[in-house]
Amino acid sequence: MTIPQAAPPLRVARFRADIDRAIASVLGGDSYILGQAVAAFEAAFAAGAGLDHGVGVASGTDALALALRALGIGPGDEVIAPALTFAGTAQAILQSGAQARLVDVDPVTRCIDPARVAEAVGPRTAAILPVHLFGHPADMPALMDIAERHGLAVIEDCAQSHGAHLDGRPLGSFGQAAAYSFYPTKNLGCIGDGGAILTRDAALADRLRALRHYGFSGSERVSAGPGFNSRLDEIQAAILLALLPHLGAGNAERRAIAARYRECLSRTGLALPPDTPGSVYHQFAVTHPERDRLMRRLAEAGIGTAVHYTPGLHRHPAFREAAAFPLPVTDTLAATLLSLPIQPEVAAEAPMRVAEALRDFRP
Ligand SMILES: Cc1ncc(COP(=O)(O)O)c(C=O)c1O
Repeated sequence: MTIPQAAPPLRVARFRADIDRAIASVLGGDSYILGQAVAAFEAAFAAGAGLDHGVGVASGTDALALALRALGIGPGDEVIAPALTFAGTAQAILQSGAQARLVDVDPVTRCIDPARVAEAVGPRTAAILPVHLFGHPADMPALMDIAERHGLAVIEDCAQSHGAHLDGRPLGSFGQAAAYSFYPTKNLGCIGDGGAILTRDAALADRLRALRHYGFSGSERVSAGPGFNSRLDEIQAAILLALLPHLGAGNAERRAIAARYRECLSRTGLALPPDTPGSVYHQFAVTHPERDRLMRRLAEAGIGTAVHYTPGLHRHPAFREAAAFPLPVTDTLAATLLSLPIQPEVAAEAPMRVAEALRDFRP
């Protein structure tokens, strides 16, 4: 049996009855745009992260871009972000009109390196945008310390870290705003596109609600300022509300599969991700100097893998202006990382199967 790297339809199949009920409730309701499901999901999702306000938007990229705008960040400003992340992180910065400044990541956490952030702060720096890559926490205490010293905003990219924490504190609760994606493969994913911003700042949440909805403020259909059409869809919100109660158990299953990988792969020569209790393992990404050979071997054994992310964003034509330093850690990781199956619906047997496939695989 082939093990896919990820298969969102298998999660849908697992929770199909809940999802069918959620969709039916919207079909039979009286509001298809910004209705009860969006409001209920925003409240429940914010409460789960210990935050007061949730604003549903059309995607994770929009969540980041609108959060930057709502914090007053735009043309003339610089935003420091890691070079090892999905392109949407840096596209959101471009969308806001600010300039991205891409810095290197830490070789162990694979998240933005606070020492590199401290070096990159300059007179135009307005914000730091850490990404909790693969569900693993970035070093938020160190980053918040830099932000406080320089008066910078912090927007956490939580697209891969739904439900994760750092020493018991939910990720997303450190900065001024946290941006989430509900792309179908995410730990909490819908059946299409979706995103949200969480914050404890009521005024920021109000500005975000206006920005996602033509600049309208309150119930009046008058544009108080610039605005977009970037709303979380009512059907997607109902699906997310149905899946949210299963997020904690899904994350626990991911942690259990990660623990099995650690047992099974200890003698394979693969470098494993850090063993941090608060991680939610959006990916279980190993590194190997001959990544392509490893990938081929696993494919022959019927095990799907994926590369996240190559090349580093500093090598994308759109962001070439954005990297001011050599980024050796990002370049090395971009050439060696390989994501193994970790989605609970596909990966229960994966640790044993990967270990078997690599029994005579020599570095
Ligand atoms: C780290 C990260 N940031 C941003 C995004 C963008 O989210 P979306 O695809 O919902 O726009 C994603 C995922 O797709 C992501 O993984």
